[in-house]
Amino acid sequence: MKKINFGFVGCGWIVQKTYLPILKQMNEATLYSVYDIDEEKAQKCAVEFGIKQVFHSVDDLLEAPVDAVIIATPNCTHEAYARKAIMKNKHVICEKPTVLHTSDYEQLQEAAGKQKCLFLPAYVNRFRSEIMELHKILNGGILGNIHTVEAGWIRKCGYPSLGGWFTNKQYAGGGVLVDLGPHILDIALTLFQNRTEPVKATLETWYKNYDLSQVKNYSAQWYDGDKGLHYDIDVETSAFGKVIFTGGKILNVRLSWNAPVEHDETYFVVTGEKGKLIVKTLFGFSTNRADELNRIEVLQNEGNSTTIVFDDVAKEQMKSFNRLCKYIIGCILKEESPQEITDNGRNVVKLTELLYQNEKAKRGDMEVF
Ligand SMILES: NC(=O)c1ccc[n+]([C@@H]2O[C@H](COP(=O)([O-])OP(=O)(O)OC[C@H]3O[C@@H](n4cnc5c(N)ncnc54)[C@H](O)[C@@H]3O)[C@@H](O)[C@H]2O)c1
Repeated sequence: MKKINFGFVGCGWIVQKTYLPILKQMNEATLYSVYDIDEEKAQKCAVEFGIKQVFHSVDDLLEAPVDAVIIATPNCTHEAYARKAIMKNKHVICEKPTVLHTSDYEQLQEAAGKQKCLFLPAYVNRFRSEIMELHKILNGGILGNIHTVEAGWIRKCGYPSLGGWFTNKQYAGGGVLVDLGPHILDIALTLFQNRTEPVKATLETWYKNYDLSQVKNYSAQWYDGDKGLHYDIDVETSAFGKVIFTGGKILNVRLSWNAPVEHDETYFVVTGEKGKLIVKTLFGFSTNRADELNRIEVLQNEGNSTTIVFDDVAKEQMKSFNRLCKYIIGCILKEESPQEITDNGRNVVKLTELLYQNEKAKRGDMEVF
């Protein structure tokens, strides 16, 4: 059987927590090489996971017989690494928010097409059980024509390291909208059938002032990545977006790292001409859940209602990374380009850019909820 040689550009928190342990278990994958700006970390990681080679530069890594690279570095570096990798005929799996500008995304997509390699946004939450079920239900046409989607990911205290690169605009490209936003927008945009172009987009954002002596207490309890206070904190911590598409379809998005709530939650409320579907869940690794279970409720206008419950919530995020890795391997082995995911990835970047163009920024915490 042909084995796929994976190279890792960046071996930080997400790579060590998910891709490396998962791909190590998969017969079709070889953990071939790693490059990280922090060479000591790369060396340690190579020893821990049995990665064959550590490289001193991304160019060296790309000269090696690597079939696919997983890019998981600070957001501002994704575009240049993806471009280099594609030009060396490597399949590219790029962590969210992929890139920050639509024009860059389109160039990468085109280059990947020419070089006959994948350019795949790693949208893991598509592979969650309740999200796969959501699509199955909607594909059956139970809601009729869908006109409104409300979606959100709200955390009580879930900064992925306050004061690290995630909360600095130069490195991250933005705040919660580029961190949690891509996961939500990727799914939300696929819920409208025959979705058209946005005609209006508005974004309200909140920028908090910090007591820097307390910074360590603000970080998410599950994130043990870069804990240092290295950079200015200059990105939005909460964001409300509203998008109107031609034909009047509406998307409302709410995102926060620090909302005035007791528990973290992720939700989708999908309304169509025949009823409503509600997904109540929690993406990511937070354990601050309101409910022990994830649920889908379907409420039909004629009065019928159904609830589907998903247990095993603690393992769901790792299961979805597992499915993502299998999916990546399947695409590479079958030489199949995942057109829908890649095209939707472009729409996510485009909408994010549009929302930021129409941003109305405020100081402080998100007060309404
Ligand atoms: N899909 C998800 O659920 C998920 C979760 C967390 C993070 N992410 C994404 O994954 C990426 C990495 O996030 P993380 O949490 O692992 O961050 P991290 O800070 O833990 O890891 C980033 C790694 O990149 C290295 N690095 C920094 N600058 C570099 C450069 N110029 N070249 C090479 N290496 C460099 C760092 O040394 C570090 O090891 C981000 O884009 C983030 O948005 C996705």
